[in-house]
Amino acid sequence: MIEISTSILTVEKGKEADVFFALEKSKTDYFHIDVMDGKFVEKDTYQKMLEYSSYIKRISNLPMDVHLMVEDIETGIEVFSAVEPNIITFHLEACKNKEEVMKNIRAIKEKGSRVGIAIKPNTKIEEVYEYLPYIHMCLIMTVEPGLGGQTLITDMLEKISTLKTHIEKHNLEIDIQVDGGVNLKTAQRVKDAGANILVAGTAILMASDYKVIIDELKDFEK
Ligand code: DX5
Ligand code: ZN
Repeated sequence: MIEISTSILTVEKGKEADVFFALEKSKTDYFHIDVMDGKFVEKDTYQKMLEYSSYIKRISNLPMDVHLMVEDIETGIEVFSAVEPNIITFHLEACKNKEEVMKNIRAIKEKGSRVGIAIKPNTKIEEVYEYLPYIHMCLIMTVEPGLGGQTLITDMLEKISTLKTHIEKHNLEIDIQVDGGVNLKTAQRVKDAGANILVAGTAILMASDYKVIIDELKDFEK
């Protein structure tokens, strides 16, 4: 079953209430909260994402999917677990060693959220294999993290299918999320490759009717 997680990274201040209510009405499956610390990636969205996610927590029961693009993952987990997200995802590249990865996995579980590990385009998919038995989702970045509105890197399609094959071979129950440049042109290819949770920001937020785009990305029967 395909799920859509709408990235709220580019939602303008002052418009957030209208956008979040409209997204809830459009039945997005998740709100995707892009947390950036200005160190792991250039932009700093920490405060804005904290305000937005706190607001969403107050007005909606729809689940949040927090994507930590931060160096200090421990603090990110602490701060954003306050909004009780369904999923907290951290970047493998921000961890110094296996002990730190396992510590982050445990910390997220102790907060009651599902665990995601994200990998950047240049990180080999094999590097996440040893953690798969302990997590719920693998986020394959289909753009360099840090910005919305980029073009999907099509080399990542093979990475998605390689992961899907590995998951099936080892009977693992793992969601495959793709994030970056997902739109009506690229959605079918990432789904065919094996992704089942699609993050989209620009493709949805630029539409006049969010529900039309969300349903098309899910490929509902017309
Ligand atoms: C990029 C973020 C993505 C991005 C997606 O670092 O992780 O979630 O906001 O935006 P679009 O769908 O516009 O590429
Ligand atoms: Zn993201």
